[in-house]
Amino acid sequence: MIVFNKGSTTRQAHVGIPSGLYEEEYGRDGFYGRYAHLYRTAPPVAWSRIEGSLRPRSFDLNQQQSSEEDFGASRRLYLSNADLRIEFAVLGTAMRYYFRNADGDELFFVHEGGGRLETDFGVLTYEVGDYLLIPRGTVYRLLPQQRSRFLIIESRGELGFPERGLLGQQALYDPAVLRVPELEEMQPPAGITECEIKIKRGGEMSSVFYPHCPLNTVGWKGTLTVWQLNVRDIRPISCDRAHLPPSVHTTFVTPAFIVCTFLPRPLENGDPEALKVPFFHSNIDYDEVLFYHAGDFFSRVGIDTGMLSFHPQGIQHGPQPQALARNRKLTHTDETAVMIDSRNPLQVAADADVVENKDYWRSWQS
Ligand SMILES: [Fe+2]
Repeated sequence: MIVFNKGSTTRQAHVGIPSGLYEEEYGRDGFYGRYAHLYRTAPPVAWSRIEGSLRPRSFDLNQQQSSEEDFGASRRLYLSNADLRIEFAVLGTAMRYYFRNADGDELFFVHEGGGRLETDFGVLTYEVGDYLLIPRGTVYRLLPQQRSRFLIIESRGELGFPERGLLGQQALYDPAVLRVPELEEMQPPAGITECEIKIKRGGEMSSVFYPHCPLNTVGWKGTLTVWQLNVRDIRPISCDRAHLPPSVHTTFVTPAFIVCTFLPRPLENGDPEALKVPFFHSNIDYDEVLFYHAGDFFSRVGIDTGMLSFHPQGIQHGPQPQALARNRKLTHTDETAVMIDSRNPLQVAADADVVENKDYWRSWQS
């Protein structure tokens, strides 16, 4: 690969950016493909106005109005395409029926609450910060012990775990920290004599009924099951002397998108010239979605826990001017956030419009 170098640049990306210039990373295939660094005299996000629908967007999921009694009705769709659906659900009581998703794997992220997850493979106790990976076709029932709020990612392709490559097999999280359900005798919902499994296929619901508890597995073996991973068991990769791309925080992968987890970590404290906040970049090949779970979101102002941001392909993003100034003094991040990078463009659903912060795109104006 031939590297060209014209005008004012840095030798090491993200380090020693010439005074008064702003570095933008323009790259293909996420952060893995051909790239160029452009050194501009103003940030690419310093727009004065935008016409048309393409813009950074954010949604306050804390404002979601939905049933907390019925699992299906509690799920609200925010973003989707043929590969994935991004939903949010609030569930206050145990499900009175079982559910099987025939359309895709489901990845739950527990934003609040705790309880039991009963499945074909046995039982898991869930808590805040858990990812729960439920493969397509698995029957399950959620029994919150506290009101539970979930980010739910439905994936048409199989969700798997990332290659660690040069980092070694135990990097990010040792596969041994993954937990799987434990078998125990499960009871049908109280007062129910005929158990219902609601099945979603092609977006349509059907129900199959049994005169007994359908979660009646007394043994299982194999390589496919339900997985649980808590964010406290993820050990983020960081570098003392240069800002690393977000892809180093990859937690799950599919053919069409990746899921990354941003966690508290030290910043680039070993070189005063190193950039400490994410560099400006164009999402040429990916739409980017971030769910803010906990902490202080160091590269974003005006974002709080329980919010979702959407940065579509075709328009740059990066830190706001206020965040740039504030973060020069920071030595650590305190944020926990889930990122979904989708190769194909996502559509914004009607429910998202209701809770949208319509002025989010203005937050880059100084
Ligand atoms: Fe990004």
